[in-house]
Amino acid sequence: MSATETLTRIPEHLEFSRKTCAAYSYFFRDEEGDGPIETVVSLANRAAPSIQALSETETILDLCSGPGRFWTVYNGLALQPKSRVVTLDFAEIRKPQLAARQHLPLQQYTHIEGDGGNLPIADGSLAVVVNNLGLDQILPKERAISELARVLRPGGRAFINLNTSRLMLPPDLEDRLAKTTKEIMRKEKKRATVSPKLRFERDALLCKRNFRRQGSFFDASVDGESETIQQQIEDLFVSSGFDSAVVRLNSNPRGKQWWEVDLQKGGI
Ligand SMILES: C[S@@+](CC[C@H](N)C(=O)[O-])C[C@H]1O[C@@H](n2cnc3c(N)ncnc32)[C@H](O)[C@@H]1O
Repeated sequence: MSATETLTRIPEHLEFSRKTCAAYSYFFRDEEGDGPIETVVSLANRAAPSIQALSETETILDLCSGPGRFWTVYNGLALQPKSRVVTLDFAEIRKPQLAARQHLPLQQYTHIEGDGGNLPIADGSLAVVVNNLGLDQILPKERAISELARVLRPGGRAFINLNTSRLMLPPDLEDRLAKTTKEIMRKEKKRATVSPKLRFERDALLCKRNFRRQGSFFDASVDGESETIQQQIEDLFVSSGFDSAVVRLNSNPRGKQWWEVDLQKGGI
């Protein structure tokens, strides 16, 4: 894999959500727009032993990395001198926004603009994959999971956090959507300038609403269902080429919930 940044072809049907994701990351970075920080801290703690144990020249992929928040949190933890890090996201993220650039030795780091459902990465070439709140946005999910299983080497590990509706959807989503839509229409009627930020906010809220309509398989929105969903998630990963899947529901003090999935492929 080259040390330069690579651009892969992004399928047309992903264009809208990828532009929205980029804008969302850009404008709402400080507002938990990419999920609560506790999700990243948990991911870093779970993945750290595997990342630090790598003895040879091996590669770690941060899938659906966004601007690379994981590496800001991981900063204090060791990275083996010969390990390589690849961050990958389909959104257009400008170079200065790539947080990982400040936290990783540049010669060990590559960012790829690409689709998680069609990874430009060779079979069995990765030792560790981390993914915070992105795998369930790659559709269809079977494709996302089979790509993940394909690129991991035997004995490789993946650490994943999945969205639930209690994380994704603000309770006031419909109100906010109505408010931003009304404001845009009011401005358009008066032929006043509509700020890109307002347009992107409406688009991002629409994306979230679509996500709910599709109905996330990983959802745990109803109390009492979570054990069944936990088992379904485990079965899905185990039937897709992973030898072990440890699945649990975690939450932060503000009541946001997410699924944590720790995977191993072969080599047990
Ligand atoms: C909730 S954000 C999380 C970003 C980052 N992992 C973090 O925790 O800050 C989800 C990310 O998934 C990316 N994403 C969604 N679908 C994708 C796809 N098909 N391929 C690559 N990236 C995708 C989005 O662009 C977005 O940056």
